[in-house]
Order: sequence, then structure tokens, then C-alpha cells
Amino acid sequence: MTMPAAKRQILVTSALPYANGSIHLGHLVEYIQTDIWVRFQKLRGHECHYVCADDTHGTPVMLRAQQEGITPEQLIERMHTEHARDFAEFGVAFDNYYTTHSPENRALADTIYTRLRDAGHIARRVIQQAYDPVKQMFLPDRFIKGECPKCGAKDQYGDSCEVCGATYSPTELKNAVSALSGVPPVTKESEHYFFKLGDFEDQLRSYLFPDITDTRHVQSEVANKLDEWFAAGLKDWDISRDAPYFGFEIPDAPGKYFYVWLDAPIGYMASFKNLCTKTKLKFDDFWGKGSKAELYHFIGKDILYFHALFWPAMLSGAGFRLPTAIHAHGFLTVNGQKMSKSRGTFINARSWLNHLPAEYLRYYFAAKLGPRLEDIDLNLDDFAARINSNLVGKYVNIAARSATFIEKQFSGKLAATCHRPELVKTLQSKAEIIAGHYEQREFGEAMREIMALADEANAYVDEMKPWVLAKDANQKDLLHQVCTTNLNLFRLLTIYLNPVLPTLAAEAQKFLNVAAFTWADTGTLLLGHPINSYQHLAARVDPKQVAAMLEETQESLKMTSDATTPPSPPTPLPQGEGSNVEPTKPEISIDDFSKVDLRIAKIVSASLVEGADKLLQLTVDLGEGKTRNIFAGIRSAYDPKTLEGRLTVVVANLAPRKMKFGISEGMVLAAGPGGKDLFILSPDNGAQPGMRVK
Ligand code: 2FM
Ligand code: ZN
Repeated sequence: MTMPAAKRQILVTSALPYANGSIHLGHLVEYIQTDIWVRFQKLRGHECHYVCADDTHGTPVMLRAQQEGITPEQLIERMHTEHARDFAEFGVAFDNYYTTHSPENRALADTIYTRLRDAGHIARRVIQQAYDPVKQMFLPDRFIKGECPKCGAKDQYGDSCEVCGATYSPTELKNAVSALSGVPPVTKESEHYFFKLGDFEDQLRSYLFPDITDTRHVQSEVANKLDEWFAAGLKDWDISRDAPYFGFEIPDAPGKYFYVWLDAPIGYMASFKNLCTKTKLKFDDFWGKGSKAELYHFIGKDILYFHALFWPAMLSGAGFRLPTAIHAHGFLTVNGQKMSKSRGTFINARSWLNHLPAEYLRYYFAAKLGPRLEDIDLNLDDFAARINSNLVGKYVNIAARSATFIEKQFSGKLAATCHRPELVKTLQSKAEIIAGHYEQREFGEAMREIMALADEANAYVDEMKPWVLAKDANQKDLLHQVCTTNLNLFRLLTIYLNPVLPTLAAEAQKFLNVAAFTWADTGTLLLGHPINSYQHLAARVDPKQVAAMLEETQESLKMTSDATTPPSPPTPLPQGEGSNVEPTKPEISIDDFSKVDLRIAKIVSASLVEGADKLLQLTVDLGEGKTRNIFAGIRSAYDPKTLEGRLTVVVANLAPRKMKFGISEGMVLAAGPGGKDLFILSPDNGAQPGMRVK
């Protein structure tokens, strides 16, 4: 067996998840793929560092924080904790999980921008943009809605139509309105900063299309796609956004902020820089121009333009090294279709963790993953079948069928020799082939190879039938050697599976009473060695677990699409069974309270909302004929007809909120535990529309 000649220095990143949403299974394809590759490199004895961070800046984070009535800093801190926990529970072991809202990132973004500017790669010009006169902010394309200019479909975003697939600019939308306030946007001018990507055309071409294919930095199908982009011409990239914006202010441009995508990839560097402060690592060894270290970015195919064009150009223009390779992957489909909220297949990491082992998903993804850009499908029936037949039936069973005999009949000690050394050698001889598959990100191939070896091991167990040998006192030595062979086969399979199943491998390591595995351990055997008693390592997937996970997914989606209040972190109920008293929220000051404008409103009309089983659509009169449209989650308690003419209290100065069904322009206050018990004002208490509630 040969081991790699030299110890490599490797830095690996996964794309930074946005801080305004939870981690879902689509994200996990990437983090699991990267983590398997990193764990493999570490097992091989290389120096490998895996860094990532939350992508914290931009309009969606700013608006979500506003909706929740918290600061963006509070929101990103909460999301960071949630993301880090989800990743840890899926065994995704970053060496550093940081944030783009960090001093390191600000300093690096400033440096890169300043160097690009000083070298003449930044242009400034005035552009016209859609502006929301109510919210007093420029609107990103996704925050403008209207009718598709091609097919006329209503309620389409400003960049593309979900019905006919057309792409267009927001100015082409018919009857466009701001998704934030519901009012038509106006056009307003503003000076923007642009990165002149075209300045880097020659450099990018020689980086992306090298003459020698083994120095290729992107997959071949990516190179083809890039060719199209070059043919279309490399355009200047708008890197600035106007206040209000949650991000870093551009050093020489007060009131202008770096567009989130400018500082996001710099977040890779910043996370590593932060890791350097906690270790002896040197930043320049990995990012300096002459760096000998390898640098890999794992990303989804949707963000290639940023990583294969903007990012190498930015690095090059600012005097840093370029990535060794960009590894792009496809998307996840569930049961053959795009993950969908309406089909209930938009599965969050947490819903999975609540019902199924994380490592089963890691194994399933590994079995499906390759180095290409194709999408991978999570078919839930196939998932259960594969886990049960491969992981439990083939692999874990090898240990389960031999461990008890060693423990009970041989005082927990392995024999000094194996009964079938040539079979053990066969498994050992595959170490480099399997390593090659891992290295090339051919994880599906690696899993097929490993399971073929598990088949050979099981054929051997079936042939030798240790449970029959155990009944014959004359066969004791043979039983000992057979079980020793089995456990050595199991150990080799475990090392091969270790990058994919780190927790299971750690359990197996305890059972076999050995130190943490390395790939080099595949060259040795465990003989005459005491082991520990066997605890079952993996249970079969019960279809009920999958059903419960899907049910929870559907429930949580219902809650987020119907709720009149934005999602907030779960609040623990007070101790005591059956309590329906919610705990008091954190204290607020009188100043906080005085910001809330509570008014009496008259419900002019109320109607059901199609597709929402918790909501009613209300038109309320706030006095002097001023009406508002409000979606209120009180359907369970009221027949809409009985509400017309009644009075209620409304939060009158709540920012308008885009919901699935339209814009909600306030909040109706109701009290009660829910269901039929949600109370609004009684009809005859003398209150008048518009009265302030004090
Ligand atoms: O597409 C996304 O989810 C981005 N948050 C990825 C950023 S990757 C990197 F450039 F930071
Ligand atoms: Zn259309």
C-alpha cells in the first residue's frame, strides 16, 4: 500500500449561508459534500482547514430584523447560533464558523476595494433605480412585484416570472408595486460604484481555460458555461448600495455600502484570518500571492458567476492568490421534484434531526454524490431501503454477528491470526482506489466500492456461520479466528466509511478499543487485541420516522406561511403540564412601548383567504375613512360575517408586510390561547375608530 508522498496544506470553504433563513436539506448537500472531503484529507494526514461563516449583510436581513422588531445584529447572532448547532449535529466540522459582519471582514473588504480603486478598476456613474417612496429606500428587483410583461401573470417578482420563466428588468413589469409598501415605485437617480470586470478578461481566460487540462480550476461543464458568459461580454459589476442597507460602508463614500456579494466571498478570507488569531496559522501562507497551499471553494452551480468570474478577478486585482479549484455541485430534489413548500418537501435541517439520524442523510448523499453538476435526488423510499440494506444490513451487521462471541467466549480478546487473511488483504488492497474516489469527489463510486467489499465480507460470514461454529466445542479456535477476521473486515470498512460516518466510526473505535482512525490504519490488522463490549451501532429506518419528519415539515411550513407575526425562535413553555399561559417576553422600556401606535379600528369587511386556513382578510377603518388591509390569524375564532361592524385594536404604525397572500398593513390585536378563544373588543364599549389606545 502506498501513502501520499507529501503532506499537503489545504484550505477549504463552503458557500456562506444567508443569515435570514434556516439551514435546509438543499444547503446540506454542499456542507456534507465538503465535510466528507475535508475529513478524508485529514484522515490521510494532510493539513486541512475548513472555514465558513454566516453571510449576514443585505436588504433581506435588514428587513427581517425590522419585521421582528430587533436589530440586524441581534438577528444575525441568533441565526449564527442556530446554524452552528444544525451544522454540528450533522457532523459538519468547521475549523472556524464565523460571520461576515466581523472586523476582519470589514478590514479585508476595505483593503481589497482600496487596492482595486487605486489600480483604476472601480468606476462611478449615476444610475436610475426603483425607489419606494413610503419605505424611503431603493428596491432590489426581488422586492418589486407586478404583472409579467410576457404572459401577464400577476404577482411576479421584478427579475423573472415564475409562470412562464421570462427574465426581464423591473421597469418592464406592468402595474408594478413595491412588495414592501404596496405602492408603485418611483424612479430615482443615485451614484453607484462598479467593479470593471472587463479589465480582467485576459487573466480570467488564462485562469479558466488553461492549455494544460490538469491545471484546470473549474469542471469542464463549468468551462463551457463560462465560455458563453465571455461571449456575451464581461460587464461592469455594481458593487454599491445606498442607505438604508445593512453592510459595510464604503470607505470613501459615506452613505454607500458594499453590496452583500462584494464582502461575502471575502468572508472566506476573514474566517480564515480569525482562525489564524486562535492558532499558529499564517494568513499569507494561504492567501499570499506565492502561496503553495491549495485553496478550494465548494459551491452550488447557481453562484458560479460570482466565484468563477468576480472572485478571481477581485483577488487578482488586489494582489492575492487565486483558488486552486472551484467545485460546483447541483441542487437537491426531493422525490424527483424541486424542494417545494406547497408540496411539503422543503425540509429544514432541524425537522430532519428531530426524527432521523443525521448520519443516514450523510450516507445517502454520499451514495448519490459525484463531481459533476447534476442535481441529486432524495427519494425517501429509496433512502429508507438503502440505509436498511446497506448500512444496517450489510455493514453494521458484520460486527453484530461476531462481537458477542468474542466478548462471551474469548474474554473480549481477538485471536492472534485471521482465518481468511487473503480476504482481509483484498479489502486492504482497495485503500488507494477508494482514496482516489474520495479525492476526486466520486463519493458514489467510493460507496459502491465499499458496499461491494461489505458484500464479500457478508458472503464470508454466511459461509462460515459463526453461530453454528459456536455450538461445537471442537470448533472454538476456528470460531475465534473467524470472528477476528470478521471484525477486521468491519474495521477496514469503518475506516473507509469514516469520512461519511464520523459518529458511527467514533463508536466503532470505542468498541474496537483503538485510537482515532487514520487512513494509514488500513495497512494494519487488529490481532490479539482486547476489545470492548458491543453496543448496537445503527437501527433500521422505520417508515414512521420519515412520515413524522414530513408531517413536522408540513406543520412548520403552515405556521410560517399563515402567521400574522414573523417567525420567532421557539419560546419554552413554562413548567407544568397543560399550561396555556405563554411566558412574558423580555422587558421593554417605556420608550420602546411609546413607539407603538395603537388605534381603535372598525372592521369594514372580513373574508376568508384562499389557501390559508388560519387567516382572515380584513379591511379596517382607522377613522376619517382611512382604511387598511390586514391579514389576521383569527379565522379559528370568528366567522368573517360576524366581524363586520365590530371594533378592534390595531397596531397602526407597523411597517407594511409582504405575505404570501398580499400586503398586510397593520396588526389586529386579539387575546387568548388560540382556537375558538381569541378575543377582540366587545361591540358596545363606546370606542370610536381612530381613537388612540393608551
Ligand atoms: O447564495 C448564497 O446563499 C450566498 N449566501 C453564498 C455566498 S458564498 C460566498 F461568496 F460568500
Ligand atoms: Zn410570465
